[in-house]
Amino acid sequence: ISFTAVIPAAGIGQRMQSKQAKQYMQLQGKSVLEHTLAVFDTHPLVSEIIVVVSPNDVEFEKMAVQLSTPLKTVLGGDERYDSVLAGLKSLPSHRWVLIHDAARPCLRTSDITRLIDSLEHFKHGAILASKVRDTMKRGDFEARIETTVERNQLWHAQTPQLFKSELLTEAIESALAAGIGLTDEAQAMEFAGYAVGLVEGHDDNLKITRPNDLALAQFYLDNQLGNKHA
Ligand code: CTP
Ligand code: MG
Repeated sequence: ISFTAVIPAAGIGQRMQSKQAKQYMQLQGKSVLEHTLAVFDTHPLVSEIIVVVSPNDVEFEKMAVQLSTPLKTVLGGDERYDSVLAGLKSLPSHRWVLIHDAARPCLRTSDITRLIDSLEHFKHGAILASKVRDTMKRGDFEARIETTVERNQLWHAQTPQLFKSELLTEAIESALAAGIGLTDEAQAMEFAGYAVGLVEGHDDNLKITRPNDLALAQFYLDNQLGNKHA
C-alpha cells in the first residue's frame, strides 16, 4: 500500500501581511514549501506528491524543485477546500491521501508513519492533532465567560489528514452542498458520519500563519536538526 500526498499551496497568506505568499518565504535558505515537500519526499510510503498552486502563481516553477518522488502540480481555487478538491480530482479513486498544508514545514516524517499506522484502528481515516494545554473558556459575544470547557477532550487539529480519496471527495461535496463551511477535511468526514481518529503528534507542527510564526518555525527546525545530530 502506498500513499499520495496532496499539498494545498494556493493561498495568499493574508494574515502574514507580506507581499510574498508565506509558502514561498525563506527558512534556512529554502522556501517553506520546499521544506514541506522534503518531508514527504523522504517518506518511503509516499509514492506521489500533488502540489496545488494558485492560477496566478509565478513562484513555483522558479523553485525548480528536484524530488525523488514523482511530483505533479494542479491549479487550486479561492478557498482551501476548492484547492483540496482540485487535488483530489486529479487522482484515481481508491487512493489513500495525506492532505497537508504547505504552510506546515516542521512536520516530522515519523509522525506521518504514526498516522499511517493508526489506520489499523481508525478504518476511515485519522488526523494528526495535539493536546490543548491552557484552560479553555467559552465566551459570549461581549467577552464574558460562559463556561470552562473540559480540556481533556480538546485537541488542536493539524495536518496531515489521511482519508480515502473518493470518500473524502464525496464528503466535501455533500458538506458544501449543505452549506457547511469547512476548515479541514475531517470536518467533512464527520459531517458524513464517519468516525475519524485523532493521532497525537507534536506541538511544533505549527501552521505558519502570522508574522512571528516564521521565526518560530526556524527555531523548531533548528531544534529538530539539533536532536537528529545529538
Ligand atoms: N490554501 C490553498 N488554497 C486556498 C487557501 C489556502 O491551497 N484557496 C492553502 C494555503 O496555501 C496553506 C493551507 O491551505 O498552505 C492552509 O491555509 P492557510 O494557513 O489559511 O493559508 P492562507 O489561506 O494562504 O492564509 P490566510 O488565511 O492568512 O490568507
Ligand atoms: Mg486561509
